[in-house]
Amino acid sequence: MVSMDTLVSLCKRRGFVFQSSEIYGGFGSCWDYGPMGTEMKRNIKEAWWRGMVRERDDIVGLDSAILQHPQVWVASGHLENFTDPLVDCKQCRQRFRADQLETAGKCPACGGELTEERQFNTMFKTFVGPLEDTSAVAYLRPETAQGIFINFKNVHNASRKKLPFGIAQQGKSFRNEITTGNFIFRTREFEQMEMEFFVKPGTDEEWYAYWVQARLNWYKDLGVKPDNLRLYEHPKAKLSHYSKGTTDVEYLYPFGWGELEGIASRTDFDLKAHSTGSGEKLEYFDDETNENYIPYVIEPAAGVDRMLLVFLLDAYDEETVNGETRVVLRLHKRIAPVKVAVLPLSKKEPLASTARDLRNQLSKRWNVDYDDRQAIGRRYRRQDEIGTPLCVTVDFQTLEDQAVTIRDRDTMEQDRVPIANLEDVLYQKLGF
Ligand code: GAP
Repeated sequence: MVSMDTLVSLCKRRGFVFQSSEIYGGFGSCWDYGPMGTEMKRNIKEAWWRGMVRERDDIVGLDSAILQHPQVWVASGHLENFTDPLVDCKQCRQRFRADQLETAGKCPACGGELTEERQFNTMFKTFVGPLEDTSAVAYLRPETAQGIFINFKNVHNASRKKLPFGIAQQGKSFRNEITTGNFIFRTREFEQMEMEFFVKPGTDEEWYAYWVQARLNWYKDLGVKPDNLRLYEHPKAKLSHYSKGTTDVEYLYPFGWGELEGIASRTDFDLKAHSTGSGEKLEYFDDETNENYIPYVIEPAAGVDRMLLVFLLDAYDEETVNGETRVVLRLHKRIAPVKVAVLPLSKKEPLASTARDLRNQLSKRWNVDYDDRQAIGRRYRRQDEIGTPLCVTVDFQTLEDQAVTIRDRDTMEQDRVPIANLEDVLYQKLGF
């Protein structure tokens, strides 16, 4: 497996991820996404949205505000329970999460004595309006889920879905994490993709098992190696305050197994809490049994940034070709930031305008890169490093035979294809 340092350096060199505020020395575990990272994130979110919302008729979308009424966080239990145990080293003054220490009571950095544990709420606080007093306090959401629960009635009335049905949402969440690190694995600002699937009480166990399996398979279908994935069921004593059962899809990161996505059985905890908190009945009328009840919820919750990290780690490959090392990201075609690169062998006319016309034509369908600098071998290596599945080379022969060469990232095989058929052939090779 590739080391994190190697991956971080590739990410910077090729424009996937940059340290945020780098020219000011960086800013506490915040990261910026460059041209490649931005495309890749969009592809991840698009793949999730297609599978979760567009291709199903039992899930609809939502885009709720990041700032919500402060009572939301009182009712949801986050104000009271969304805490981590914090300890400080009396000697070197570093801070740690007590539940992540290998030796309790001892500083892992210098061996010094640690302070007593105190609970630290990881929600970011801000003020709404010009006055910075307690009546103006608001929080940046630490999960997208609550925006879904508080809109349950609106979405249900508008969409007229019958149980079981889900509401999906993608967007930024914020947590003032005590310990961050491992690149984009744990950060303070990140993007989530969550879906709350509302079911009839009593059918929740069955749907929980369904979503655990469905989410594991989603990663496999997008090419993540099955040996690097596993399921981990949380022990009952360690469950979040809202959960009756949680299973993580875990990935084998360079630092060991860790969470990639969590699937939680949230019962009727949230809808009940918001019914009590708001005074608004968040119930469902079942016209088959003629009864009102609060649905139970199964929640698959994933992070875009963590997923991007996993796709990159899993796709990274090095091989020796003609005595040289070739670095290649074997990304799934849907996830790869660039689908096709158009590479003219010369910058001169009329080759250049033939190649540019091709680029303009293909870019209406796919994200296309155009590169006319340096030797063709170096250009192929650059495309391999960003995971471009197909390169189209326009050479001098093209002017005579109106054909181009398609080079495959994984096999490095080359096919000669008439320009007239190019779009169809690319479509067949990409699959979309
Ligand atoms: N609504 C449930 C919920 O938020 P979670 O396990 O705390 O559950 C879901 O978060 C997913 O969000 C995680 O599996 C992870 O992918 C991502 N995530 C959570 N905290 C994160 C952080 N500090 N940095 C990056 N991603 C994070």
